[in-house]
Amino acid sequence: MVIRTGILSRIALLATFCSLSFLAGNCPAATLRDAARVSDAQPLPRVGQGDDRTGYQSSDYRSNSKSLAVLTGHDAALEALAANPPLGLPALPDPPLAPRIALGRTLFFERRLSANNTLSCGMCHVPEQAFTQNELATPVGIRGAFIKRNAPALFNVGYRPVLFHDGRETKLEVQAWAPLLAANEMGNVSRAAVIQRLMDIDFYRDAFATEFSDGLTELNLGAALAAYQRALLSADSPFDRWFYGGDTHAVDPSVKRGFELFRNKDCGSCHVLDHSAAHFTDDDFHNTGVSARSASIRAQPPAELQIAPGVKIPIDTDLSVPHPGDDGRAEITGEPTELRKFRTPSLRNVALTAPYMHDGSLPTLAAVVDFYNTGGGEDEIKDALMRPLGMTSSEEHDLVAFLEALTGANTDALAADARTAPIGDPK
Ligand code: HEC
Ligand code: HEC
Repeated sequence: MVIRTGILSRIALLATFCSLSFLAGNCPAATLRDAARVSDAQPLPRVGQGDDRTGYQSSDYRSNSKSLAVLTGHDAALEALAANPPLGLPALPDPPLAPRIALGRTLFFERRLSANNTLSCGMCHVPEQAFTQNELATPVGIRGAFIKRNAPALFNVGYRPVLFHDGRETKLEVQAWAPLLAANEMGNVSRAAVIQRLMDIDFYRDAFATEFSDGLTELNLGAALAAYQRALLSADSPFDRWFYGGDTHAVDPSVKRGFELFRNKDCGSCHVLDHSAAHFTDDDFHNTGVSARSASIRAQPPAELQIAPGVKIPIDTDLSVPHPGDDGRAEITGEPTELRKFRTPSLRNVALTAPYMHDGSLPTLAAVVDFYNTGGGEDEIKDALMRPLGMTSSEEHDLVAFLEALTGANTDALAADARTAPIGDPK
């Protein structure tokens, strides 16, 4: 794992010596010879995180690529994590057990769960990107087209009484069938087709038979995926260590000021916390004006297009894509009073889950805080709490610092744990 830079400095030294020397004519050859001799003894300098190929010729060669080492999986003992949630989270109802968690993890990264064997759950909920996607406002499904909404991060999803941005599902065990069957996500034609495809893979047929008395069924597939996701608990953030753990040094004064603002500006009315634990959500639905704001932006397509940093070209054709708009909760209930309401997301790990809101329309936490400071989006039926907050820019900065202090201690460990899932055919 040691990055060797020795040879570079030796060549540099020799070169300096040569340029100063009267024997300069003989020097280049000597320099090269010396360099060759040094490189026999020492590996070539490593570029970036790649392998330096030390001992590449030998049969027991082991790659020492730093990137590969970083990407090696490490089991995070998820059963114990689920049984003892980290500081700041309450006890988890029905904590899952290790064998089912492991089966769920294998399935979560199984591309053969999609109709054309290309897309796994983990490709839209990327472990290294907080089990969401940081690059795309809304993910791309098997048809190669964007789907309508931003992928939620899956940390602590086992506590959520309502799922999806519009709350259309309530059971994690059932939820998985939505992406599995959605034509624009994993595109399977039927539940039976998915079950049959897995039945044809010895590993899954046997693993389900061992784990469930009734083997591989629709319900049990959902239950295995849910077991893994229920165990993805993440808290014990700097905020938790300060607020619940009593460690006054866990956060800096800016975070403490930010938390005061969070309370005084009523953020906590919807992103709720209590005396012993915090989910930072009321699991209820509110109209903050996000949907109306995005609709009004779409209605005014930009006059120029940025093709590189600082380089813009004027657009003379209409590039706008027809967009159905998003009525949120009302799309499920049909209630006019629920128009453009979306579920309050938890704020745990929010610094890792950009871009923000149900449509990924706000790129940074600073943009979100600014959105609230100006009273949210223009929508005459938005929540009464959405009004201009009058924060100065240093207050906005403090509020962002508070949100950044909500990152759990084990997010990297959970990503490393995900990498223990087998690649290719599980054995
Ligand atoms: C094409 C990308 C994509 C794939 C593949 C995908 N998801 Fe999602 N997932 C999303 C999006 C987008 C949402 C939000 C949809 C909405 O709210 O309408 C979501 C929502 C969820 C939720 C609800 C989270 C919450 O906080 O309410 C869970 C749980 C979930 N997905 C798990 C899975 C599982 C398990 C699989 C594999 C069977 C999977 N997803 C496959 C994109 C994807
Ligand atoms: C009236 C309830 C309500 C209040 C008050 C409120 N929020 Fe929200 N918050 C929401 C809802 C609902 C969403 C999701 C909106 C959407 O997806 O379109 C959200 C989204 C967010 C997000 C983005 C999270 C993500 O994962 O996309 C952040 C960050 C956030 N709120 C912080 C705050 C802060 C800071 C305050 C106080 C200044 C605040 N909220 C006040 C309900 C509220």
